[in-house]
Amino acid sequence: MGSKERYHWLAQDVKVSGVDDMVLLSKINEDAITENLKKRYMDDYIFTYIGPVLISVNPFKQLPYFTDREVDLYQGAAQYENPPHVYALADDVYRNMMIDCENQCVIISGESGAGKTVAAKYIMSYVSKVSGGGDKVQHVKDIILQSNPLLEAFGNAKTVRNNNSSRFGKYFEIQFGRGGAPDGGKISNFLLEKSRVVSQNPGERNFHIYYQLLEGASGEQRENLGVTIPDYYNYLNQSGTFTVEDVNDKKEFSDTLGAMSVVGLSMEDQDSVVQLVAGILHLGNINFREENNFAVVESADFLAFPSFLLGIPQDALCSKLTSRIMDSKWGGKSESISVTLNTEQACFTRDALAKALYSRLFDFLVDCVNRAIQKDREEFNIGVLDIYGFEIFQEEYVQEGIKWTPIEYFNNKVVCDLIESKLNPPGIMSVLDDVCATMHAKGDGADQTLLQKLQGQVGSHQHFSSWNKGFVVHHYAGKVSYDVSGFCERNRDVLFNDIIELMQGSEFPFIRALFPENLEADKRGRPTTAGSKIKKQANTLVQTLMRCTPHYVRCIKPNETKRPRDWEESRVRHQVEYLGLRENIRVRRAGYAYRRLFSKFLQRYAVLTKETWPTWQGDERQGVLHLLNSVNMDQDQFQLGKTKVFVKAPESVRRHAATTQLFLLEEMRERKYNGYARLIQKAWRKHVAVRKYVKMREEASDILLNKKERRQNSLNRNFVGDYIGTDVHPEIRQFVGRRERIDFADVVIKFDRRFRMVKRDLILTPKFLYLIGREKVKQGPDKGQIQEVLKRKVELANIQSVSLSALQDDIFIVHQQDYDSVLQSVFKTEFLSLLVKRHHEKTQSNLPLKFNNLLEFKVKKGGWGPFSSSGSRQIQFQLGQGDEAVLKPSGKVLRVSIGPGLPKSSRPTRRDNRKSFYRENRAAPTAQNDSDPHNGGVGTRRGSPSRGASLRQQSSMEQPSLPRLQNRHRRDSGHAQHVDMGFMSVPDQGAAGLQRRRSKELKPVPGAGRPKPAPKPKPRSPQCRALYAYDAQDTDELSFNMDDVIEILTEGLSFRSVGLVVWTPSRTRGNVPRKLRGEDLDVEVIAN
Ligand SMILES: Nc1ncnc2c1ncn2[C@@H]1O[C@H](COP(=O)(O)OP(=O)(O)OP(=O)(O)O)[C@@H](O)[C@H]1O
Ligand SMILES: [Mg+2]
Repeated sequence: MGSKERYHWLAQDVKVSGVDDMVLLSKINEDAITENLKKRYMDDYIFTYIGPVLISVNPFKQLPYFTDREVDLYQGAAQYENPPHVYALADDVYRNMMIDCENQCVIISGESGAGKTVAAKYIMSYVSKVSGGGDKVQHVKDIILQSNPLLEAFGNAKTVRNNNSSRFGKYFEIQFGRGGAPDGGKISNFLLEKSRVVSQNPGERNFHIYYQLLEGASGEQRENLGVTIPDYYNYLNQSGTFTVEDVNDKKEFSDTLGAMSVVGLSMEDQDSVVQLVAGILHLGNINFREENNFAVVESADFLAFPSFLLGIPQDALCSKLTSRIMDSKWGGKSESISVTLNTEQACFTRDALAKALYSRLFDFLVDCVNRAIQKDREEFNIGVLDIYGFEIFQEEYVQEGIKWTPIEYFNNKVVCDLIESKLNPPGIMSVLDDVCATMHAKGDGADQTLLQKLQGQVGSHQHFSSWNKGFVVHHYAGKVSYDVSGFCERNRDVLFNDIIELMQGSEFPFIRALFPENLEADKRGRPTTAGSKIKKQANTLVQTLMRCTPHYVRCIKPNETKRPRDWEESRVRHQVEYLGLRENIRVRRAGYAYRRLFSKFLQRYAVLTKETWPTWQGDERQGVLHLLNSVNMDQDQFQLGKTKVFVKAPESVRRHAATTQLFLLEEMRERKYNGYARLIQKAWRKHVAVRKYVKMREEASDILLNKKERRQNSLNRNFVGDYIGTDVHPEIRQFVGRRERIDFADVVIKFDRRFRMVKRDLILTPKFLYLIGREKVKQGPDKGQIQEVLKRKVELANIQSVSLSALQDDIFIVHQQDYDSVLQSVFKTEFLSLLVKRHHEKTQSNLPLKFNNLLEFKVKKGGWGPFSSSGSRQIQFQLGQGDEAVLKPSGKVLRVSIGPGLPKSSRPTRRDNRKSFYRENRAAPTAQNDSDPHNGGVGTRRGSPSRGASLRQQSSMEQPSLPRLQNRHRRDSGHAQHVDMGFMSVPDQGAAGLQRRRSKELKPVPGAGRPKPAPKPKPRSPQCRALYAYDAQDTDELSFNMDDVIEILTEGLSFRSVGLVVWTPSRTRGNVPRKLRGEDLDVEVIAN
């Protein structure tokens, strides 16, 4: 490893606040944990690790570190390289899935408003961004991302704790094909809070969609659907809360409709959905009054709208809400009788219908999303669970026979048993189901029976107690009291058959489809209860999760005010306690950070040794040992269980000092793969892209055709792109985004306002142009050392033009708004052609190139003396002698003279250099840019044609107050897609580039006629002798004394190597640094 070469975790230099992995806390108690979280929170660091578990504290404000830059930074990076982040976790999840070929899940827990849903969204959007794919994949990605606003509109609501509280549980699986591109998905939803449809507590709202409709409905919809102010509707006006701070319901409505289109709902279905939402609202306005102990509809006027919108006759609706057909058995005969309801029962029936309609509508929407992204066979998936979580802690160590010190922690099983045990004693849910099974039509008294039975069965349980209205469960997080009234009725959760029949008779197929049950067949058997459904769903979920490698995010809510920087100590402490963070840390410390099945471990690190590659022959356990030994893993750092290897928690890990073997394993693996990937790429490019590459050279040449004279050597030169070899120079790469591709990199000369020349690294990426210089560090521990400094970073779109002379010189001026950069590079043609291309990709316009022998450039404000002010300078070019430009600065003018070059009409000769590439081992050619907007990346529009379907034209009912519905139009959201084929477009990079540059361009010839000193015995390397002393001025320069003989050992490894690219003062031109050429007199090449 060279001195400049570093593992990439060492390249970061990040401010430290508290500890970013709490495994490193010196004291492990709730105070220390809370304090550390607070410190970091106040410094705007919301993420902290406990080993692989991510703690996320809700900032209640948008923080700046969720941009594409961070996506770049965290992509492919190890956890210890960057500050804790949900992207790091997401990246780990994605990579583990790809490398280990295993399903992964993320379990996000935390109380309401702690940030679970936001975290889930960040994870999904990250995965979507870093996973590749074409059109189909983009379609799946769109649906996955757009399902969020859709399901939030229908499943989220403002509560007192959270303005956007999820009122349903969600497990979202993204499915991937073998190549790692998402090509499908599945949502499972749990436990929608149906009661919210009919009532809300003060300060809360119904589901967002209602308010969105009321704000966003068109004039026509208002009329057709009977849309008016929220206060008008019983289902909205109970809480007195209609708006949410910072939420624009009108805009959200259009987003919701847009999302419906993306997930593939037809315009007709969208109309039906909206109509049903309105129908439910109107249903709630049907009131009852008591007449002779029976309920009658208070005002028949209020029947009209719901029956119109639901497509059922008014009288049928009226009678089904106020009476019920019951089956009764008399001596073995069964008979149906109609029972009239009292007002309470009528209200209950109305609300039951409203809730059923809404929850079935919700399920319909989830189904739509699922249908749009389902795929026929499952490969790998990543699941994100946005619901209260759980965790398997210590059992694994016992199973695997691992020696360790068990940590005391609260085992929630005792509470789970209290709730859901089937027998001995039966848990709360079993008792509830039993009571419901024997319950009569009316729930009266059942709740009290429940309470009595509970006292009998679990009354003595240490986590149970009762009070006059119900019971209390002592959960781990705290005690919760439950009021039993309505418990049994809700648990029965049955919709009376005649209500189902009523809806099955709707004249709208959409509504009929929501009630698919076969009533005849369903009559037999005990009806399922809400409790048993929940249990079934939970069990299925657990089974799914058990098949995945789990990852955990624990969200913490720092306050109840929803304000940023507000820290309520006691609340956080409470959460730290019940989330079990202290136990997490202890287990992590005492235990093993890393565990993997032998086979998976072998597969993952097989590449590290030749014995394990491609497969280890022999006992898996021995194979694992072999790999661990190959990285000198200490004996006490790992244990082998029965089927798994356990590696210790890297306790002493601190950034900058991270050298634990575990990290080393990963890093080495990564390096090997990167190396191979590069090799494969190179070979492939060589094979496929030669012709395109030749074409690219021609195109580049065309830029200058008939405009500028050409240099002898430059015409048929192959393009290399990265002449610096930035791959092995993290100190340069650090300025460029992690995933930003470097199209061109070379050391160039920059002219300042006084025409003094300095060296810069010129870097071109698809987004920016960078100029990197070097400076001495003035303070701190590195004082005196020379460090890379970013001198200029220009967005390509901000480059206005480039100007050049018509002669063969290498000078060009990059013009920008504020000031210009005057540069000199022998690879100007290659650079310019790439710049023009990238600029076009960014701006869709052609970068103006100007050719003139009198050029002008703007200088920056600043400096001192006569040159201080901003203003302009001139460069005058004139024909002179020789192939080297002679520069004469004078005041604000630089005179450049140079001999004639090849005619302006010169073009490269077309020849396929394929053979010579192989023979000479030169840098590979690369393909032409295939992501050219003309070829690929053409946006395709999707979505239905403009809207023609109207609301419920099928309706047979005439409402005097409702005119027949007219056509209306909504704009469909088209979606542009861009296929990034950018990987095809860059010239090959790397150290090989320098080699070819050296051999073609800069190879000096020994000074003509100079006598050679007697050669040393068999000199292997070229040597040179200094003609006078020189003190190095920069990091890549060499100091020497007069007559020093310098052996050129590392020639060609990089531009920083000693030797042919040494910069020296030129005797003839004063203290002007120049690239060393054979004819320079500063050093003398004495052997070659
Ligand atoms: N990372 C974050 N950055 C900025 N704001 C956030 C972040 N996380 C959460 N918030 C804010 O907190 C609010 C509540 O977060 P979120 O809806 O994710 O909570 P939740 O845990 O899903 O709650 P619930 O259980 O009620 O659904 C968000 O609407 C947002 O305003
Ligand atoms: Mg939520």
